[in-house]
Amino acid sequence: MGPGPSDVNPRILEALSRPTIGHLDPVFVSMMEEVKQLLQYAFQTSNELTLPVSAPGSAGMETCFVNLVEPGDKVIVCQNGVFGGRMKENVERCGATPIMVEDEWGQVVDPDKLESALKANPDARTVAFVHAETSTGAQSDAKTLVELAHKHDCLTIVDTVTSLGGTPVLVDEWGIDAIYSGTQKCLSCVPGISPISFSDAAIERIKGRSHKVQSWFMDLNLVMGYWGGGATRAYHHTAPVNALYALHEALVILQEEGLENAWARHELNHNALKAGIEAMGLSFFVKEGDRLPQLNTVIFPEGTDEAAVRKTLLSEYNLEIGAGLGPMAGKIWRIGLMGYASNQKNVQFCLGALDAVLSSMDAPINSGKAVAAAQAVYKD
Ligand SMILES: Cc1ncc(COP(=O)(O)O)c(C=O)c1O
Repeated sequence: MGPGPSDVNPRILEALSRPTIGHLDPVFVSMMEEVKQLLQYAFQTSNELTLPVSAPGSAGMETCFVNLVEPGDKVIVCQNGVFGGRMKENVERCGATPIMVEDEWGQVVDPDKLESALKANPDARTVAFVHAETSTGAQSDAKTLVELAHKHDCLTIVDTVTSLGGTPVLVDEWGIDAIYSGTQKCLSCVPGISPISFSDAAIERIKGRSHKVQSWFMDLNLVMGYWGGGATRAYHHTAPVNALYALHEALVILQEEGLENAWARHELNHNALKAGIEAMGLSFFVKEGDRLPQLNTVIFPEGTDEAAVRKTLLSEYNLEIGAGLGPMAGKIWRIGLMGYASNQKNVQFCLGALDAVLSSMDAPINSGKAVAAAQAVYKD
């Protein structure tokens, strides 16, 4: 129950263990087509260019930047946590100039600040932001940010590593141009694959580039020779065959449950966890309404040795919760309720274990109330 990787559904582990076949085998190729369609469903898009990059979320991030950004470009990067900082790094490594729009960690990206930056930089071509900031647990208003970017003729790059499958990600409705995610959070799949999707406007930008994409592996013009399909499908790299079986199964599971049901399940389990945390007398780091249900950031009781609590949870209860990342280290806990791990049993187990460990350390909490408070939410 940390910030990812989340628990992998046993159905996915079974799929992973199936015999490895050739990555140009007709059976594998037809599965690739299904994976693309299932990803279109997950992303809620009809974008043709929707596929899994054969590497983790960071490679999905890099794929978006190296294909859309050219040397000399100006890119507006919104940062409200660790991962916006990585976007800045990507922009710089593309030989472009990042214009930073910064918000306090734990807050959402402020649309007014973005609009001011867009007005002050009419030559900017791209806006990039993180929808679900895993380092803080805040979820920004992607629809509004994309609308603003388009009003100022910018394309958008959006990080949905932690949101996809847990909270709404509506690529076509919101008009997102380039999006990436990860398999190891709310898809509850094995880590190491990054689903991406690009709009027609993004493809046009890539086709009109005046510089070659600096990464051979991530150049979508080449990747499409393999993933694009048709009679000309050719070897680009050896696909991670078994990991793709796993992704296929994860996406089938998501489709069977239905996106809306998956979002509602994440919301319900978050509400139950929240009731328990608050009954203990603890509070959340992010303001109500801006919180990610799949990544709960909790301020621990003053004077508590937070690392000792996590260590005891792991050694005595076999339960992992996450520490704060970057400047949030030593300030918050990050409790994941992602994908397969977002369930009633986990919520109650986590609250019970936390209550017991904190009480044994004489931490200033209301002992013995958390589990009942969570149960009341499920009864409602
Ligand atoms: C918001 C966000 N972006 C990008 C990444 C990088 O993904 P990966 O670790 O799979 O490379 C993560 C990983 O946790 C993330 O949370």
